[in-house]
Amino acid sequence: MIWHEFKLPKKEGVSEIQVDGKKLCIIYQSGTPHITSAKCPHAGADLSQGWCEGGKLICPFHRHGFDIQTGRGNPGQGNYINTYPVKEENGTWYVGITKPWWKIF
Ligand code: FES
Repeated sequence: MIWHEFKLPKKEGVSEIQVDGKKLCIIYQSGTPHITSAKCPHAGADLSQGWCEGGKLICPFHRHGFDIQTGRGNPGQGNYINTYPVKEENGTWYVGITKPWWKIF
């Protein structure tokens, strides 16, 4: 896993961040960031345009919901999104991304 630095958004809520050239979705609430993939697995909507409700990230297109901790889709959806670990060290935030195996060599 590689840790990449990121900056917290200025406002709480759902927005996008760029990390290592990749667009991710950040859910920032109560001073805690959660980072997930930004593309909805249902039909590709931009999840960073969605909102958070009861610990679920809601897709703006057809309102699929995903647990912001586990990425698991709501019952019956049969889908999920990636979630990424975050940590804070000396006031700097990092998100952990596992390098895909095809990029190792
Ligand atoms: S594209 Fe996200 S729910 Fe359909």
